[in-house]
Amino acid sequence: MNVERTLSIIKPDGIEKDLIGEIFRRFEGAKLRIVAAKMLKLSQEQANQFYFVHREKSFYADLVSYMTSGPVMVQVLEGEGAIEKNRLIMGATDPAEADPGTIRSDFAESIERNIVHGSDGPLTAAEEIRFFFSEEDICLRRP
Ligand code: CMP
Repeated sequence: MNVERTLSIIKPDGIEKDLIGEIFRRFEGAKLRIVAAKMLKLSQEQANQFYFVHREKSFYADLVSYMTSGPVMVQVLEGEGAIEKNRLIMGATDPAEADPGTIRSDFAESIERNIVHGSDGPLTAAEEIRFFFSEEDICLRRP
């Protein structure tokens, strides 16, 4: 399997619930290495742009408002099959449908307040990583 990078965000509800350490532990336990990370508060413009693909959906305004409601933790994860592996660890977008033991099943309250975001494929991963990090921000780690 190829070594990939993917973008992960711990959303405002994950920060509010003090889940950064628990979520990082799950990534590391699954051999997803954190190669860049920062905490920030998204501006309205950044959130609009990040979720541009959903701009026509009924939930777009609420999603942007929620994502700007508090700080988020953004990280690049690296590992074999990182994109799919991260999606498995997160669980389904709607926590009601997420498998037991996944982050969303264990901690999320609703489809909107669903604790984490993860890139859904190689193209979006590359775009989303570039959205938050330059190549110099990403640390090379030993295999
Ligand atoms: P995320 O992985 O960040 O990508 C888009 C987000 O939109 C998604 O997680 C959910 O939080 C949110 N979302 C997706 N579908 C719905 C929906 N039907 N109602 C409300 N929010 C949604």
